[in-house]
Amino acid sequence: MASGQQVAVYGAYGHTGRFIVAELLERGFSPVLSGRDAAELEALARETGAQARPASADDAAALDRALAGTAAVVNCDGPFAVTAAPVIEAALRAGIPYLDVAAEIEANADTFERFAERAREAETVVVPAMAFFGGLGDLLVTAAMGGRTAADEVHVAYGLS
Ligand SMILES: NC(=O)c1ccc[n+]([C@@H]2O[C@H](COP(=O)([O-])OP(=O)(O)OC[C@H]3O[C@@H](n4cnc5c(N)ncnc54)[C@H](OP(=O)(O)O)[C@@H]3O)[C@@H](O)[C@H]2O)c1
Repeated sequence: MASGQQVAVYGAYGHTGRFIVAELLERGFSPVLSGRDAAELEALARETGAQARPASADDAAALDRALAGTAAVVNCDGPFAVTAAPVIEAALRAGIPYLDVAAEIEANADTFERFAERAREAETVVVPAMAFFGGLGDLLVTAAMGGRTAADEVHVAYGLS
């Protein structure tokens, strides 16, 4: 993806969303701020100079407006059991990649089950759990496995300060 492109951040004003918005700006992308609270989005828009496009997860038309013209969407609005499916549906309608930071096993499994095939058909990507709990664990296990392709069991332990 080339810098300068618009990237929608759903849940932009949350703790994680703010990190993602800051990182996108740092890398030269134009974040499009979305989420359900218009006042919070406006405040963040004033702070960052980015564009605010409010959309609640149950409003498909507003989600379509939020994603219009963007090159990808990053969803950081938990609970993902509520937000993932509608935001993925909007991403598929827009024909853009979707990525989330869910740490909800059931929601992640549901995303794979419901959307893997549809993403393939649409020739796009739907990537759940791409954050500390998920993406990093996957990376560590892949490294620890070396060339092996299967394991009976994997335990991942995190130490947080
Ligand atoms: N996988 C990982 O490593 C990892 C790492 C960090 C965070 N996470 C997950 O990412 C999510 C966000 O974490 P956070 O620390 O950034 O939390 P946060 O600051 O509380 O942000 C969560 C955001 O979700 C919004 N929200 C809640 N319910 C919603 C709904 N039904 N529809 C639309 N928006 C809704 C909240 O907005 P309102 O103000 O409108 O309620 C809030 O802005 C959590 O689910 C967390 O578990 C995962």
